[in-house]
Amino acid sequence: MEFRNLRIIDHPLIRQKLYFLRSKETGSVNFRSMLNEVAALMAYEVTRTLPVKEKEVDTPLEKTTGHVLACPVTLIPILRAGLAMCDGIMAVIPNARVGHIGLYRDHKTLRPVQYYLKLPSDIAESEIFIIDPMLATGGSAAAAIDLVKEHGGASISFICLVAAPEGVRLLEERHPEVPVYAAALDRQLNNRAYILPGLGDAGDRLYGTQ
Ligand code: PRP
Ligand code: URA
Repeated sequence: MEFRNLRIIDHPLIRQKLYFLRSKETGSVNFRSMLNEVAALMAYEVTRTLPVKEKEVDTPLEKTTGHVLACPVTLIPILRAGLAMCDGIMAVIPNARVGHIGLYRDHKTLRPVQYYLKLPSDIAESEIFIIDPMLATGGSAAAAIDLVKEHGGASISFICLVAAPEGVRLLEERHPEVPVYAAALDRQLNNRAYILPGLGDAGDRLYGTQ
């Protein structure tokens, strides 16, 4: 399957953590910490092309030129499950701003329902990463990207752990310029729009709400 918008981040440590995240034997405590860790590992790859600018710095010995990020970074987790990945990414970009989008999937219609929105005021100048471990039908991700664009966001990437082909395809149609980073592209959705093989309901596994 070829998707022009999809970038799979392949690394032995990410593969092993994903193995444990998929396992139904993994409980909430380990699930949360492992999702955090995998997100921190993915952060190196998704930030690889961030623009930098030169800046002078005084070392203890002399003046030299170093580099700093050229623009602010905004992380936008989709509640609830995006929060755990956001924490992991903040471990490596501690001064990132954080916006929040609250969406849940209506169980009957499978359409996303919005219940919260709080974004930094200057997202127009920011490099934006929308974060959610699960990209299933793509409805939630597409709605989140719509909201961020409506509020002025322009340079947007989407980060997930597991993607279904259906979701990647929807984002390719609706937001072709948004790169989608994932640790794995899974096979398909089941008849309740859960990802197969997937890892189940990420929010419930994170917060023990099954
Ligand atoms: C899950 C997941 C995504 C969404 C993906 O959230 O975290 O946000 O489903 O499905 P989609 O691609 O078909 O839209 P859920 O709606 O279960 O909410 P929760 O995180 O609060 O559990
Ligand atoms: N949301 C989840 O948490 N898991 C899926 O497999 C699909 C949507």
